[in-house]
Amino acid sequence: MEILTTIHNILWMGVPDIVKGLVISIIFVLIFRKAIKKHSFLFYIYPALIFIWYCTYGILTLCNVELYTLMGKSVWWKILWLPHTYALDTVIGLGFIFIVMFIGVLPTKWEIIKQLHTIRKEMSIIGGAILVGHGIMRLVTTKWALTNTGDLNILLMFAYVILGVILLALIFVPWITSFQFARKDIPSKSWKKMQTYTSVPLIMLICVFGIIVNLGWAFSVLPNLYSDLYDVSTTVDGTAVSNLSQGYYVATEFLSARVYLLLMVAYIWLRRRKIKGRAGKAVAAVNV
Ligand code: HEM
Repeated sequence: MEILTTIHNILWMGVPDIVKGLVISIIFVLIFRKAIKKHSFLFYIYPALIFIWYCTYGILTLCNVELYTLMGKSVWWKILWLPHTYALDTVIGLGFIFIVMFIGVLPTKWEIIKQLHTIRKEMSIIGGAILVGHGIMRLVTTKWALTNTGDLNILLMFAYVILGVILLALIFVPWITSFQFARKDIPSKSWKKMQTYTSVPLIMLICVFGIIVNLGWAFSVLPNLYSDLYDVSTTVDGTAVSNLSQGYYVATEFLSARVYLLLMVAYIWLRRRKIKGRAGKAVAAVNV
């Protein structure tokens, strides 16, 4: 564990989780794009395991079965939470979904975009499985937030109780209809329409969620942002805590919120450009 933590810190200390997720997913699909097309089943194993574990944990905990009490802090428990410990779950799922969405608005004449289009369905299935699993596991957080209203600020409360649940419902539709069994009965025009109408609001809300959740944590860790970072505050139990160490965490959270904002602005700009380009082409065709 210690060696993994050291490697993780060397590679990613100070880097927002979403940047890590994007970098890993982009490198992964660039290296394995041909293998993903040929042997997609192999690439579904990791997301499927995460999906099964998170759903099992979420549903059992909601039914008041405390898995932690049953298993204790065993090696198995650590292994089951390993992807979560190193943030290799949610943000990897997000990375895949961002790639799927961005290749839809980037120029298709680029060779790499053309190639990635051939594995769009597979990337949606991988990203969706991880994020649906995350959502179901996090319903436990929704329940906890509803029963401990005083412990969370308004931003986190809004994210966990309202936005997260909307996101879970919203991602389920494009995800499940990415599978052949669900897709085969839907006419291709209706399928395309349904994908666009659900996935565009989804990507916008994901960015809003990312901004709100990261700001929510930043404000809850360092509530008094006017305080000098070199000061030392005293916690309830009398421990001295340097504002600077807290400040490091807060800075990463602020940076994460900015990255989500940037992704949102970039997506809107690229999408508008694409729609304008299409309209321009249609006008040109009419005038010929
Ligand atoms: C019941 C529903 C949900 C709740 C209560 C919830 C709660 C949380 C919590 C506690 C975190 C921080 C720790 C972690 O990564 O696990 C988080 C991160 C995040 N979740 Fe969820 N989530 C829900 C569903 C979803 C869904 C369905 C999506 C996307 C489709 C999503 C997108 C995100 C994003 C963008 C982050 C920020 C990751 C980061 O930058 O670190 N969430 N969520």
